[in-house]
Amino acid sequence: MPVPAVLRSRVPLLLLLSVLALAACKREETVPQAAAAAPKPAAMADTDEHSYAQPDKVVIDDLALDLKLDFDARTVAGTATYTLQWKDPAATELVLDARDLAIEQVEGEANGAWQPLKFALADKDPVLGSKLTIETPARNAKVRVTYRSSPEASGLQWLTPEMTEGKQLPFMFSQSQQIHARSWVPLQDTPQVRYTYSAHVTTRPDVMVLMSADNDPNAVRDGDYSFRMPQRIPSYLMAIAAGDLVFKPISARSGVWAEPAMVDKAVAEFADTEKMIATTEQLYGPYRWERYDLLVLPPSFPYGGMENPRLSFITPTVIVGDKSLVSLIAHELAHSWSGNLVTFSSAKHGWLNEGVTSYVENRIVEALYGKDVSDMEYVIARNGLKKSIGDMPVATQALAVKPGTKLDADDALSAVAYDKGAWFLQFLEERFGRQAFDAFLRGYFDHFAFQSITTETFLGYAKQNLFDKYPGKVTDAEIQEWVYGPGIPASAPQVLSPRFGIVDSARLGWRGSKQLPPAAITSTWTTQEWLHFLEGMPETLPVAELEQLDQAYHFTGTANGEIAMRWYPLAIRSGYAQANDAAAAFVERIGRRKLIMPVYSALVQTEPGLALAKDAFAKARPGYHPITTASVEKLIAEAKPAPAPKVAPAPAVDEDGADADTATPEQGGDAPVN
Ligand code: BES
Ligand code: ZN
Repeated sequence: MPVPAVLRSRVPLLLLLSVLALAACKREETVPQAAAAAPKPAAMADTDEHSYAQPDKVVIDDLALDLKLDFDARTVAGTATYTLQWKDPAATELVLDARDLAIEQVEGEANGAWQPLKFALADKDPVLGSKLTIETPARNAKVRVTYRSSPEASGLQWLTPEMTEGKQLPFMFSQSQQIHARSWVPLQDTPQVRYTYSAHVTTRPDVMVLMSADNDPNAVRDGDYSFRMPQRIPSYLMAIAAGDLVFKPISARSGVWAEPAMVDKAVAEFADTEKMIATTEQLYGPYRWERYDLLVLPPSFPYGGMENPRLSFITPTVIVGDKSLVSLIAHELAHSWSGNLVTFSSAKHGWLNEGVTSYVENRIVEALYGKDVSDMEYVIARNGLKKSIGDMPVATQALAVKPGTKLDADDALSAVAYDKGAWFLQFLEERFGRQAFDAFLRGYFDHFAFQSITTETFLGYAKQNLFDKYPGKVTDAEIQEWVYGPGIPASAPQVLSPRFGIVDSARLGWRGSKQLPPAAITSTWTTQEWLHFLEGMPETLPVAELEQLDQAYHFTGTANGEIAMRWYPLAIRSGYAQANDAAAAFVERIGRRKLIMPVYSALVQTEPGLALAKDAFAKARPGYHPITTASVEKLIAEAKPAPAPKVAPAPAVDEDGADADTATPEQGGDAPVN
């Protein structure tokens, strides 16, 4: 792969790094390490373009919620009481983020009594929501807002009983990342502010409520629940869920919350969770959040997982019966170190959360399931990155987004943050050696525990504790290229997957001879091998060949969403109409964006496909989360379909059996991924 031109000047890096290292080192002397100590300022000043909050003036120190969940009205209503720390002696306003909230009253505590305060809720900005400005001439230590969320709150989904597994009780859940917490609690909705919280939540007595807090595995279901989160968290980690939820333990400190019909399957699938916690602790220091539980959501959950502290939210689509997709659990658990403990100070530094986490995830997978498995996962991720990065605007190909670059908060984290980020850390591991690099990362998590930091703070710390400690291992130019440059650096380590080599041979053999590989080979394949088998196919295949594959492997109608998201687009592009009904059923049943968007994208390429997409979306829409609805709506609105499906010509096959039209030459196996 050609080395992309580096955009930024490399000269000032050394200077910048020395200043930052000095700043980081100074802070270490003065900042106490205790979790509930006074809030710490972000290590480097950083503007968060996605928040109206002014954390340099005042910060929330503690939040106390008293809320009622009303399933009929689809609202969260009650009070949010903030204990404040005033930073700027001249500040007389508290500015909060809100979105579609009805603000009923605002009061400030003065001399033990609550007095009304003046406030203004500005017009709604489509991305940021509304600025809530509260006049606080007395610089009150406590402020209380009485509010009600909208039934259309972007951060909540309300499900009718029919949309649940058990069909008996309604369900609701939050998804606050990136900037949706403000749609159910008025907050300083920026990761630069961390606070402790408590909550008293009431609802109908037959429903269990859980939060990103100290959930009690033995809680009695009575509609009246209290929570405390004694560790400081940023607002995007505020979470709540309610429904017919029961608990089953995995170990003394971990277990699964799920609907009754799902809980046993989930406990079996996620049985290795305790081993994952213990492995990560060995590598990176103690798990600092007490319990680690998993909440299995209905299939409409728009993401794979969400690292809500003490209670990761998990899609049911990874429960496939053979533990082959549990790297998702490793990922969400890893966020307990990278993200929840050491947090990006704004989404511009997304890789600090997702890249470091994807690296840690891979280490957990390697430790538990072996290097051949973790290598397959790296190859799949990196092939995806290489496919997408070239089409991205140059600015978003860099790990760290330069100030002033506009991003949509829901799209801010691309494969660059995840996979280029993990690749950068693997590069550092390779250069400095595993022992030194593990010690560095462990020290990093300790040093910045419960703080929100920028890329530059990371680099300053790395300079002092890695680059300068072991000189001559990396150059400034290499670091500069990894962090601020586009594309994939030439110094990227190569990953070879021998297991994918077998898959490549099987695919190529079939493409050349139409002979399927012997069952003795494919019967041992896990999800990853099937994904690689499909990803190496050309853009389109003749219908007869798709029929042959389908008869042998039953891809159409598969219960494995990762296979489905690769098979249906191939089938649709190739005009294999037999798969249409199953593809439509798939996008109607599942709301996880990553799995269904490729299917919709393939459909909207042609007129008949677009009609199918619109029809499926109309049926699915009432069950979709607002985030998924917005993505599908946009795709359909912007579609430019061709009149009819492209029917695949018989593809040219090279002499060695390789497809001439296969998009990426490096499908793993014996070929390096970079
Ligand atoms: N924190 C993310 C989910 C997220 C990111 C929500 C950005 C909103 C904005 C979570 O940890 C995550 O990365 N989930 C992945 C799974 C993972 C295995 C790559 C997902 O949902 O696909
Ligand atoms: Zn993540």
